[in-house]
Amino acid sequence: MKKFLLLICFACLNLIVLAQEKPVPKLNKNNIKQVIKALTLEEKVKLVVGMGMYISGAPAGLLPPNDPEDDKIAPKVPGTSGRTHAIKRLGIPSITLSDGPAGIHFLDLTNAKPKYATAIPIGTLLASTWDTIMTKKAGEILGREAKEYGIDIVLTPAFNIQRNPLGGRNFEYYSEDPFLSGTIAAAVTNGIQKQGIGVSVKHFAANNTETNRMKLNTIVSERTLREIYLKGFEIAVKKSNPWTLMTSYNLINGTYTSESKKLISTILRKEWGFKGLVMSDWFAGQNAAISLGAGNDLQMPGRPDQVQTITNGVKNGSLAMSDLNSSVERVLNLVVKTITFNKYNYSNEPDLTANAAISRMVASEGMVLLKNDKALPLPKSSTIALFGNASYDIIAGGTGSGDVVKKYTISLDEGLLHSGFKLQQNAKSTYEDYVKLENAKKPAPSFMDVFNPFSIKEMDIKNELITTAEANSDIAIITIGRISGESKDRKVENDFNLTDAEKQTLKTLSESFHAKNKKVIVVINAGGVVEMASWSPWVDAILMAWQPGMEGGNAIADILSGKVNPSGKLTATFPISYNDVPSAGNFPGKQLPLKEGEILDPVMPTYPAEITYDDEIYLGYRYFNTKKVKTAYEFGYGLSYTQFEYSTIKLNSTDFTDKITATITIKNTGKVAGKEVVQLYLSAPSIKLKKPFEELKGFAKTKLLQPNESQTISFTLTPSELASFDPTFSSWIAEAGKYTIRMGASSLDIKQTKEFGLKKDILVK
Ligand code: BGC
Repeated sequence: MKKFLLLICFACLNLIVLAQEKPVPKLNKNNIKQVIKALTLEEKVKLVVGMGMYISGAPAGLLPPNDPEDDKIAPKVPGTSGRTHAIKRLGIPSITLSDGPAGIHFLDLTNAKPKYATAIPIGTLLASTWDTIMTKKAGEILGREAKEYGIDIVLTPAFNIQRNPLGGRNFEYYSEDPFLSGTIAAAVTNGIQKQGIGVSVKHFAANNTETNRMKLNTIVSERTLREIYLKGFEIAVKKSNPWTLMTSYNLINGTYTSESKKLISTILRKEWGFKGLVMSDWFAGQNAAISLGAGNDLQMPGRPDQVQTITNGVKNGSLAMSDLNSSVERVLNLVVKTITFNKYNYSNEPDLTANAAISRMVASEGMVLLKNDKALPLPKSSTIALFGNASYDIIAGGTGSGDVVKKYTISLDEGLLHSGFKLQQNAKSTYEDYVKLENAKKPAPSFMDVFNPFSIKEMDIKNELITTAEANSDIAIITIGRISGESKDRKVENDFNLTDAEKQTLKTLSESFHAKNKKVIVVINAGGVVEMASWSPWVDAILMAWQPGMEGGNAIADILSGKVNPSGKLTATFPISYNDVPSAGNFPGKQLPLKEGEILDPVMPTYPAEITYDDEIYLGYRYFNTKKVKTAYEFGYGLSYTQFEYSTIKLNSTDFTDKITATITIKNTGKVAGKEVVQLYLSAPSIKLKKPFEELKGFAKTKLLQPNESQTISFTLTPSELASFDPTFSSWIAEAGKYTIRMGASSLDIKQTKEFGLKKDILVK
């Protein structure tokens, strides 16, 4: 009986405990707060520190260690850049993040069964389309492929300002101008997020130099920071609502951006209303607790010591639990939006064929015709003498996290053949043999490729090859190739400037072909600006083809043949010489000695360094056009095979109150169909604040206009387009006075102007 009573009591106790135990919530989009309450401290910290970086084939010890427990969990998608922790008991899955700007990036050095992605054109080419519809289409490719490979977040768009032509990652970025950069970034973001895949706009902010990138202190004034280096991010955040943002490696005025409360919590969240998650760049910053406290929610790719630092911070009170909770909330808000959480049944088979066709179309839309002395389009079925390594071995994109594992690339030789041209046999076979031989010497793919982009030495051309080629062809085309990538900046000699051998070839080729009245065309296959003024008079046409992605050869041939009328425009100034660049004297910054006990990172050997942005707001065309310094090709420049006429500008009012609308009609007055990029620059009164001569405040690309066809385009300017940042009041102010709208085909080729007035200063915010 006693035993029986005891059993009853035990059963009752169990019932009471069961009744008191709360059911464990499983995450859904409506119970995030409840889930946070159910998380232990250990689980919360796990959610704000990523699971480490896994690169199969990377030499052991090259990367900082991951948590050994995490190492046992197989990644959902191998070869991607990072993932977050799962907390299974609460129904929180791990989400997957992958680079990058020019296509979905897999880094799997064993390459046992490579996953291919479409290599779309580099960022600079996308921006050179000046077309938000095209760039959105490029974004859609990334979104669709991420989705079919089961990837939740694509670490793009990257749009730091191209402050100096030597910037090693300029190819990933869009422009020297923040308005253009931000607008294109918003279009790409909208294209990706439309597929239910998140982006990470990066690198926030002032990450404009690669040398010593992890410890570079950028010294920059408040006005310059706001008007040039933050403006693009502000536009992208407001126009496209990115799911996430990535802070950069560098410091700004002494504080790591990943640890800057002012940048993340005040400017990004409070002032601009950013609602998404902020993550660090890979291994950035010094102190994970400070980073989290500043509002940087997710430390990527995540290291065990960061888990420790954050846990200690909460325990010793230096990091508020409320800050940790806010970050956890933002992580969960992100998780519930992802395809992983929503159990999307991905196919692992994106439609690479359809995407390649779109990539080809976008590529031809962003190529810029710089010179055309009656050489292009090429006469039908001409025989072409094709020179230059890159003509036979195209550089589809840059290296680093922006690189793409692609199934094939189309070089220009193939592109020309596909378009019905003939290739002069001697030049073709000599180059093919050389490129094959040199490529065979290429070292096996390695993680260090990120830091040492490989390119084969340009073949030394014998005069005899030129003479034979000239005698057996109608025209010469030569491609000049350049490659660059993460963690290194470019050099002036033999990179920005052509090598002596390249120049000699151009000269000999031109003399030989011109002696027989035959044309010479140069194609530049590069990620950024190169010197042209010293050799451009020798040749008949120059096409800036950028690094056009895997379908590049077809896209270049589309332009050269006239199948596509070029409509790209430059998004950065091409100076006459490097020394004309306003930041030339202060790039890539001053290297400082290592501090006592400080050791050089074996992967990214970075010294402490500093760089002063003493060019202030006067970079690119803001400098060249204000100071009237001659350029090789100005910002916004690009030729077409047709001509356009600009009507006068109509304004809806002569005085600005809260907005003003400017309307213009563009007519194709030439003989072939074409598209025009209409650019709107504004010259603002300079009463209290100094202002550049003009700034880009609007642009639009017409549809394909047939000969004699017109299109009317309207632009609306609001107070924020009129305003400059006044550091005295920490505010954007539109000064009263006379404003001039300047519309044209480039920043210097202004076709029409119109003035309006502003009676009283407007304090924008
Ligand atoms: C790059 C980022 C990239 C990340 C992950 C970093 O080195 O700066 O742009 O997204 O690696 O691959």
